Amino acid sequence: MIRNVEIDILTIFPGMFYGPLSESILGRAQEKGILTVRIHDIRDFSTSRHRVVDDYPFGGGPGMVMKAEPIAAAVEHALAARVQAKESRSRVIMTTPAGSTFSQDMAKGFASCDHLVIICGHYEGVDERVMSLVTDRVSIGDYVLTGGELPAMVIVDATARLLPGVLGDEESASADSFWDGILDYPHYTRPRVWRGHEVPDVLLSGDHERIRKWRRKQALKVTLEQRPDLLSQVELTDEDVELLKQVMEDG
Ligand code: 6GU
Repeated sequence: MIRNVEIDILTIFPGMFYGPLSESILGRAQEKGILTVRIHDIRDFSTSRHRVVDDYPFGGGPGMVMKAEPIAAAVEHALAARVQAKESRSRVIMTTPAGSTFSQDMAKGFASCDHLVIICGHYEGVDERVMSLVTDRVSIGDYVLTGGELPAMVIVDATARLLPGVLGDEESASADSFWDGILDYPHYTRPRVWRGHEVPDVLLSGDHERIRKWRRKQALKVTLEQRPDLLSQVELTDEDVELLKQVMEDG
C-alpha cells in the first residue's frame, strides 16, 4: 500500500508552479500517485468584483497587505477538499521571512504528514489574523525574496523526495548530504583524468573499506571547511574524531 501525501498551494501566481512541479522527480512522484499537488489561485476566493486580495495597512506605512478573508476561504477550501481522512494530520504552512528557517528535520516532519497547505505570502505581509489558521511559519533563509512561491517549491521538493518510492534508488536519500548532519563527500566519474585533474587513486583501488574511510574523511573535511557550525551539532564517532584529527594534521 503506497502512501499518498496531498499538498495544496495557495498563491496569487499559479503559473509559477506548473513547470517546476511537473518536471523530473516531482512529476514522476505525482504520476506514481505518491504525491498530489493542487494549486489554488487566492484571487478565486476574493469576494470583490475585481478579485482584489490586498489592501492598505492600518497605521500607514509603505506597501500593501494581503487581506485575511480570501486566504482564510482558500485554506478552508483546501482543508475540506482533501481526500485524506479528516482526522489525519494537516499542517498549514505560511511562507514568510519572519518564520523558522527551513531544515532537513522540518522536511522530515512534513513528510510524515498526510496533508500540507502552503500559503505563499506577498507584498509587505499578510494580515496577522490569518495566523490563527497557521500551524507553521517557514522561511528558507536569511535573504528577502519577492514572494513565497519559490519557498513553497523548495518545501515541496525537499519534502517529496523523502516519501517512500519517490527516489528510484533508496540509497540516494540516505547517503546524501545532510542526512546524517554533515556535508557530502566529493564524487567523480569518467574520464579518470580530466583537463589534467586525476581521480583520487583510492577510488580505483577496489578496497571498499579504504574507500568508505576516505569518503568519511573527505565529508568531515568539507564540513570543517564550509560549515564548521554543523560539526558541533552532530554526534561524532570515535572514528570521526580520529579522521578529523588527520584532516587538521594534513593542514
Ligand atoms: Cl518564505 N518569503 C519571502 N518573501 N522571502 C524569503 C522567504 C520567504 N524565505 C527567505 N526569504
